[in-house]
Amino acid sequence: MSGKPSSWEEWKALERHHAEIDGRHLRDLFADDEERGARMSLDVLDLYADFSKNRITDETLDLLRRLAERAGLRAGIEAMFSGEKINVTENRAVLHVALRAPRDEVIEVDGENVVPTVHTVLDAMADFADRIRSGAWKGHTGKRIKNVINVGIGGSDLGPAMAYEALKKFSERSMTFQFVSNVDATAFAEAVHGLDPAETLFIICSKTFTTLETLANAHTARRWTLDALGDEAAVAKHFVAVSTNADEVSAFGIDTANMFEMWDWVGGRYSYDSAIGLSLMIAIGPDGFRDMLAGFRAMDEHFRTAPLEENLPATLGLIGLWYNDFFGAQTQSILPYNQYLWRLTSYLQQLDMESNGKSVDRDGAPIDDYQTGPIVWGQPGTNGQHAYYQLIHQGTKLIPCDFIGFAKPSNDLGDHHEYLMANCLAQTEALAFGKTAEEVRAEGVAEEQVAHRTFQGNHPTTTLLVKNELTPHILGQIIALYEHKVFTQGWIWRINSFDQWGVELGKVLAKRIIPELQAKDEPALAHDGSTNELIRRFRRYRGA
Ligand code: F6P
Repeated sequence: MSGKPSSWEEWKALERHHAEIDGRHLRDLFADDEERGARMSLDVLDLYADFSKNRITDETLDLLRRLAERAGLRAGIEAMFSGEKINVTENRAVLHVALRAPRDEVIEVDGENVVPTVHTVLDAMADFADRIRSGAWKGHTGKRIKNVINVGIGGSDLGPAMAYEALKKFSERSMTFQFVSNVDATAFAEAVHGLDPAETLFIICSKTFTTLETLANAHTARRWTLDALGDEAAVAKHFVAVSTNADEVSAFGIDTANMFEMWDWVGGRYSYDSAIGLSLMIAIGPDGFRDMLAGFRAMDEHFRTAPLEENLPATLGLIGLWYNDFFGAQTQSILPYNQYLWRLTSYLQQLDMESNGKSVDRDGAPIDDYQTGPIVWGQPGTNGQHAYYQLIHQGTKLIPCDFIGFAKPSNDLGDHHEYLMANCLAQTEALAFGKTAEEVRAEGVAEEQVAHRTFQGNHPTTTLLVKNELTPHILGQIIALYEHKVFTQGWIWRINSFDQWGVELGKVLAKRIIPELQAKDEPALAHDGSTNELIRRFRRYRGA
């Protein structure tokens, strides 16, 4: 499929349709159609998705689906699942779906079935996790491992960190789990504060094993361990690695027998189902981890097989694209009403923004007349309500929101869950329907106050109501849902959602600046005037 999406007849039909929809209020759409609330929904696995509070009609959905068909979404999905090299700029397959494929599935990359190797690594992880959890694996001094510290950044951190927090209830509570990502030494210092090196295991996660932040933290971890244990042999008992790069792992000093393999066909931000999730597997146990993979797999199968009308990830992707490209919405807020999901939005930021933050298409042509990925942000409800919802309700910006609520609480205490969910539902109601000036006046509000207390409404939301409590299986479903939503959008925008060249330049420049900050003598600087001045001042204030 070639050509700019914005030049397709299906796109132009949506532009015309937008002109009709733009002036319509959700109040009217609901008043005209009593069935809307029940009809504009999908019931998929453990998720009930209500998208009726969006500025759409049946015709909108139909036109959006035609756009997806024109873009060849179905063929794109097949290309991904069958291992085609759709990451064209790196000439790689995109096979995070293979990480949750059952043992008997065949998915080939360059003529080789990758599923057996996925299961070999999963089995090795399970064996290791069991040995850590049972105490069979001992530290260098013979003590049991009580603390696990994942060292990694981006996709080698956010997935396991988010999922560990999400599934803490299912975790081994006699152990501690920490995630060190920032090269700011505070991250490491605070993570190890009060810990006994003899009881601490570091999992160094880096797909490339060249990432500056991770290697700096890994070297510091090594020093911290050896300073206490005094014997190089301790590394073998206190460090394992997850990487594609065996040479660098061994150069660092970790025996490759203690390395868990990953593959270039798994993108960092799609990798926590791989050995990158080892810390999570130790926390929740191999059975819990496999249950989570089954949740991913169930959503994968849905995405691959459900027709577009019933396809939840595709529908969420299309609705997001509708606001992004036709209403000019710049952002997308994700609001989980579940404290355990407090890191979900950070995780989704990388998933979405690193995938779809692109301005050239798959053929390298500039994208200058339509928008690609949105800015993703949010916090768990109800905290966000008392911070920034004001702007969503009464500000000047259009912010489509995903609300995620659970029918059953993870911790059932008194009335908490009903209070939580009442807030979740009330917010979507208030955002959609607002409060008219007449309604405000009818409450006896003084005329000069009326405008301030009026809620315009017509703010779009999608509600994911999960039928159960948050479990590993359900987390897998939710994450796969968002992965495939991002895929849907990227495919229609004709971008490569699987590379991230945009993060390279900053890394290269940082490597140039490091020696300039560290030089004993005043270095000759050849940056721009601002950067030169900041470097000079940093050196001065630091006491160089
Ligand atoms: O800087 C971006 C990035 O390349 C991410 O895509 C990736 O998840 C992260 O860095 C970490 O990379 P690695 O796992 O190779 O250390």
